[in-house]
Amino acid sequence: MVTSNDAGLSVPDWPTSFGYLVKVPHFVGGIRYEWSHRMVAGSLLTLTLAIAIWTLLVERRRWLRWLAIGAFCTVILQATLGGMTVLFLQPPWLSTAHATVAQTFFCIAVAIALFTGRKWVEEQPPVEFDSRRPSLFTLTLFSIFVLYVQLILGGMFRHHGMSWWPHVLNAVFVTIVLTWTAIRALSVYSRIEAVRWPAILMLSLLITQLCLGFAAFVTRVEWGKDALQPELPMVVATVTHVAVGALLLATTVVLAIQVWRHVPVAFAERTSRALEQENVTAS
Ligand code: HEM
Ligand code: HEM
Repeated sequence: MVTSNDAGLSVPDWPTSFGYLVKVPHFVGGIRYEWSHRMVAGSLLTLTLAIAIWTLLVERRRWLRWLAIGAFCTVILQATLGGMTVLFLQPPWLSTAHATVAQTFFCIAVAIALFTGRKWVEEQPPVEFDSRRPSLFTLTLFSIFVLYVQLILGGMFRHHGMSWWPHVLNAVFVTIVLTWTAIRALSVYSRIEAVRWPAILMLSLLITQLCLGFAAFVTRVEWGKDALQPELPMVVATVTHVAVGALLLATTVVLAIQVWRHVPVAFAERTSRALEQENVTAS
């Protein structure tokens, strides 16, 4: 909402807002978006700190404690980048870094929710070894990679640092790689529920996102080029496109995690083969 409404510099100072840490300003123009954004950011920071402290106190998995600390460090980095965006008057690379770290934080938060969920903690995961090349896990990592490239290119265009065509061109690669990944997951491992659902969701979000991309393009690039101020159809289309983009990235991260858990690759397979060979040699 801040970016689409062109409200980034409507509160000119930081870390204070019009000289105060928490004092509601007059809600006029872009101030309502930028000031609310800072307040939501403050609440998010507090909640993430609470998660980190709680995790350090009660969680026994060491790596999860580190992940919670990582989440807190990411949100601090995010707030710093947000502040710098204001102080340096929105250079495109800095605004794009803020947009990219935002979605990275979102993915970490979703991962923490997944790892601490009852299902994850209690279930004995069904496992199937993956002997295909490239493995499904490699495909999910590749999907995350092309989505990050897409996010950075989209951010650079959105923040006026680059033309629109690299983003639209890369959308073709995103579509190919994500479709390949979803088809592999659904055609070979659809019995595994934890893999099937994220794969279906990823494919549905991809189709939605392509339509929203088209809407964002028409409203921003075609209709919006002579607009004197942000217009509602453009704001709705671009905000939804950015939000669904974040959901798509997080869903793909969840798919990768579930594939890592349920469809282990070469290493586990080699281990089981090695064990089999050892048994043969021993007998
Ligand atoms: C700490 C949690 C924060 C999160 C998760 C967050 C997230 C985001 C996201 C997702 C965007 C939209 C990016 C885009 O449209 O490409 C954004 C924009 C922005 N954020 Fe934050 N933000 C945070 C903190 C802050 C803080 C503390 C400030 C302080 C001033 C800030 C200032 C801005 C500004 C100015 C923009 C608009 C950038 C532009 O139009 O160039 N953010 N933020
Ligand atoms: C599945 C593929 C796609 C993904 C994952 C995706 C993702 C994104 C993301 C995350 C952003 C905003 C980055 C940020 O600042 O936070 C963005 C911006 C944008 N995307 Fe896409 N996109 C996709 C496909 C497309 C397509 C096919 C088009 C056009 C036909 C398109 C047009 C746009 C436009 C116009 C913007 C900038 C909106 C603005 O200026 O406010 N996108 N995209």
